[in-house]
Amino acid sequence: MSNLIQTADTGDGVRVLTLNNPPVNALSYAVCGELVPAIAAAAADASVTTVIFTGANNTFSAGADVNDFAIRPTAETKTVRDAIEAVERSDKTFVAAIEGNALGGGLELALACDYRVAATKSRVGLPEIKLGLLPGAGGTQRLPRLIGANEALQLMLKGELIKAPDAHAKGIVDEVVDGDPVEAAKAYAGKPKRRLSQRKAELGVANLGLFATPFVVAQAHMMVPPEENGGYAAHKLIDAVQAAIELPFERGWARELRLFMELVQSAPSAALRHVFFAERELSKVPGLPKTEPLPIKKAGVIGAGTMGTGIAIVFAEAGIPVTVVEPKDEAVEKARETVFGMFKYQVDKGRLSQEDAWKRANSIAFESDFSELSDVDVVVEAAFESMPVKKEIFAKLDAVTKPDCILASNTSTLDIDEIAAATKRPDKVLGLHFFAPANIMKLLEIVRGKETSPQTLTSGIALGKALRKVAVVSGNAFGFIGNRMLFAYEEQAVRLAEEGVTPARIDDVMKNKFGFAMGPFAVADLSGLDVYHFISQSQGGAPLGRIPIIAKLVEQGRLGQKTQKGFFRYDKAVGKGREAIPDPEVEQLIAQLAKDAGIPQNPNVSDDEIIARCTRALADSGAELLRTGVALRPGDVDIVWIYGYGFPPHHGGPMHYAAEVGYMPEGGTANAQTKELTHA
Ligand code: CAA
Repeated sequence: MSNLIQTADTGDGVRVLTLNNPPVNALSYAVCGELVPAIAAAAADASVTTVIFTGANNTFSAGADVNDFAIRPTAETKTVRDAIEAVERSDKTFVAAIEGNALGGGLELALACDYRVAATKSRVGLPEIKLGLLPGAGGTQRLPRLIGANEALQLMLKGELIKAPDAHAKGIVDEVVDGDPVEAAKAYAGKPKRRLSQRKAELGVANLGLFATPFVVAQAHMMVPPEENGGYAAHKLIDAVQAAIELPFERGWARELRLFMELVQSAPSAALRHVFFAERELSKVPGLPKTEPLPIKKAGVIGAGTMGTGIAIVFAEAGIPVTVVEPKDEAVEKARETVFGMFKYQVDKGRLSQEDAWKRANSIAFESDFSELSDVDVVVEAAFESMPVKKEIFAKLDAVTKPDCILASNTSTLDIDEIAAATKRPDKVLGLHFFAPANIMKLLEIVRGKETSPQTLTSGIALGKALRKVAVVSGNAFGFIGNRMLFAYEEQAVRLAEEGVTPARIDDVMKNKFGFAMGPFAVADLSGLDVYHFISQSQGGAPLGRIPIIAKLVEQGRLGQKTQKGFFRYDKAVGKGREAIPDPEVEQLIAQLAKDAGIPQNPNVSDDEIIARCTRALADSGAELLRTGVALRPGDVDIVWIYGYGFPPHHGGPMHYAAEVGYMPEGGTANAQTKELTHA
């Protein structure tokens, strides 16, 4: 008796085949191993006129099982493609009844059907590109035949999930229903077959005549990143859609498979699949006893600076009312402007209705006194980065907030245990380290102090989810995970500069050749060189690198973007003051300091060596964090760098990349499952 596929005949010639592979009904090899014969059996049964596909577990299917891509199929292995071929061979009518999600191979199975009915709250999408793949079960051939190649291509390149009503408007589903989609699907029983494989794909672009296809295809290739720098799957996806327009279905179907197989075996896809699973591991903390998170219905924020305001917006966006305590009127004025400006922008972009934007903006209250925080469930302190200041704030918070209120610090470098010691509830204290701008950056480091209780940590993780952040748990160590590694990375970049490689070249290689969002020197200029200087002073005064270049630049008032001069120059007239302009003065200063220090020059180092040295510095530092238990798993380190520091996802993060290129320092592949956080 099959259990991954449930079969039920409901009368009037209707057979319902229910996918049942919790939690998301992934179409694994095992599921397809049962689905293919179930379709064949329905096809051979004269009493059946119509087959309805649906899913148990309140969802249709999240597509092929991503785990299976690491397994080499044998001749007996059945895949979504085999199930779809079985549908194609059959002369019955097929209807997809969609609830929850129909994604990837799930939607492709639905596209192979004659009709599609979706529950109002369901979503459909072909998100394979996010895994470095293309829809490999006919999606690239059928969707263009359904909604036009141009629109299908845009949808697949973005990989977005679309809500059922929008999918209906685009013609992807035939009907949207509030009730049970299976019941609605029965109305299609016995209706004529309508296979997309029998249709021709239209381009869906008017007025371009004969040159339309080459034009659209060339435009698409121009729009996506280069193959070697994040666009490997995108170019193949465009090739597959081109085949849908130019070739008969059977040949396009075959070409899609070839392109898909190339992608499954590619390094970028392996990296992106690693990221997918690493992200889903984050909330699993080994050794953390199961406890219920404390409900967070109201929040407080201390400080209305850039970080405090951003954090308040994050709470408001998640529907959690928030009180910001800020005594300075000018700061409050500026913060209010930022808040209203941001919500207005959301309305202008069509992301929020005027009414919702107004409600959210007004869910942020500004107060001057701590006593206003007596009823909040969590407070995030975002005040000046100084231990005495933070200690004073935490002692006050301890006195005014209710006993079970969680007290969090947004510190990026200070010791959470020392901050917690200023309170009588160190078990309720943890770090919530947001990244600027807090309402845009997805990363949140959750710092677990020595005394942080399991319930506080669990609540922090749940809060991270509610705030729609990618939350990574870190031990309480200097710089936590991200900034500790940043210093190692920046130091290596400075060392290369000392050897005569210009900052402009290093940034160009790390950005344009390796794929970082920004080069290391542009990052330093953005963060502020005074911040680096302050931190290195607080850590004993050792410079980043062998020469005190950052101290000298700070001495000259070159603090980075904010003073329009740092490692680079900035000009308001060039790229809104954000574009780095190489500055020969800085290059000369570095050369002079290096000469004085007797540092051997090696300006002709290859691009590959620049990449190797910078990425090895990251991997070495990441491995140290793993060895000392500050980070739980190599994947956690990777996620911090991808979401917080613009590490190219197609390289999978610093630890994945190190393994990929065969450079793995001791401890870098730590078996996380058995590891628990320590407090180095
Ligand atoms: N394969 C294997 N496991 C999957 C999966 C998939 N396609 N989709 C989700 N899962 C697993 C997750 O790893 C997670 O497992 P654990 O509980 O063990 O951590 C569990 O299902 C729940 O997933 P989420 O935590 O992500 O739950 P969510 O509710 O936040 O999101 C989702 C659900 C929107 C479906 C999200 O999981 C998702 O986007 N999944 C991937 C969808 C996708 O990319 N599909 C395409 C697959 S490739 C393909 O289909 C190729 C083809 O053309 C044939």
